[in-house]
Amino acid sequence: MVDLSVEICGLKFRNPILPAAGPTVHNGDALVKAAEGGAGGLVAKTVSVSPAHVPRPCIIKVKDSLLNAELWTDLSLEQWLRHEYAKAKRTRLPLIASVGYNAEEIRAVAPKLKAAGVDALELSTHHLENDPMPVVEATKAAKEVVDIPVFVKISPNVPDVAQFARAVEEAGADGIVAINSVGPCLAVDIENTMPMLGSISGYGWLSGPAIKPLAVRCVADICRAVKIPVIGAGGISNGRDAVEFIMVGASAVQLSTAAIVRGYKIYGLIADEMAKFMRAKGYNSINDFKGIALHHLPEQPFRTTAKPPEVTASRCTGCGLCERYCPYDAIRIVGRIARLDPVKCYGCGLCVSVCPTRAIRL
Ligand SMILES: Cc1cc2nc3c(=O)[nH]c(=O)nc-3n(C[C@H](O)[C@H](O)[C@H](O)COP(=O)(O)O)c2cc1C
Repeated sequence: MVDLSVEICGLKFRNPILPAAGPTVHNGDALVKAAEGGAGGLVAKTVSVSPAHVPRPCIIKVKDSLLNAELWTDLSLEQWLRHEYAKAKRTRLPLIASVGYNAEEIRAVAPKLKAAGVDALELSTHHLENDPMPVVEATKAAKEVVDIPVFVKISPNVPDVAQFARAVEEAGADGIVAINSVGPCLAVDIENTMPMLGSISGYGWLSGPAIKPLAVRCVADICRAVKIPVIGAGGISNGRDAVEFIMVGASAVQLSTAAIVRGYKIYGLIADEMAKFMRAKGYNSINDFKGIALHHLPEQPFRTTAKPPEVTASRCTGCGLCERYCPYDAIRIVGRIARLDPVKCYGCGLCVSVCPTRAIRL
């Protein structure tokens, strides 16, 4: 029997799939929908001392990812404190309130959030850059005024996320969320020559599948640097993605873009996919594979010479994807089976990653 539940800083989540702060948790009703969609716990849209004036348009699709210029919530803090958190709390799932941004604002808002009954805080650090001090100060301010767990969300737009994470751990953070969206980025509509987002300079922040490898790397770096729990986020859209974050040390994951694209049912679907993977691999609990890949991150390159992969003929369907992708012209489909030319093969591994049946293995 697979057990998906996780306990993080004393909070008991029925599964490790949580919404990330964003439009799918923009009010209490949306949080209830996330719970009904199978989320293991709830994270609400970022609040601050006053409502945001959000530029429009503020979300666009770029390939299979999104660019957004959303800020924090445009609802008043009063509205959240009186109505929205209360609705979410009726789900009985752990509720994390995201709050921004500087120490003074956190000091003013955090006690009100705790009084409204939220179970933990997540400090959003989206707009802060290289210097960890503003986040360190915000973390200390939160810890001074509330006794509930304080998670600090780390932006990937800093040169060294591990150093950043260590600084917030020392400042008293109980956990880390990584990563926020990536940028600033720009998209221009070539039909009218205008930026597609309505923000200053048309700048926006990238989320979704495009940022997943960056997020996995950041989470791995952070998990190797700190002892406090880490919640991973960035481009998660299926159970295998969630497993990948947990294998590099995350205790749970959050997602926003996939929930925007596929709706509220995504949380339960991902939890089911994760359970299926765990059953297939014989893992009984999240702890059975948490951090397991960190031991395999080498300090030296595996090798610097070509080693052609092997083709398992019984698995090969002759689909031709490997032939099409090979930049070295080293693969031909002969008699519906991939044949590798070991002289031409550079050992790059691209064919291994595109093969849909895992017929090509290193
Ligand atoms: C439209 C949009 C709005 C967001 N708003 C917030 C926010 O208010 N506070 C915050 O900390 N992160 C915000 N984020 C970032 C997400 O919480 C998340 O960290 C990021 O999108 C990466 O996850 P994903 O690839 O699953 O979307 C927002 C993301 C999107 C796409």
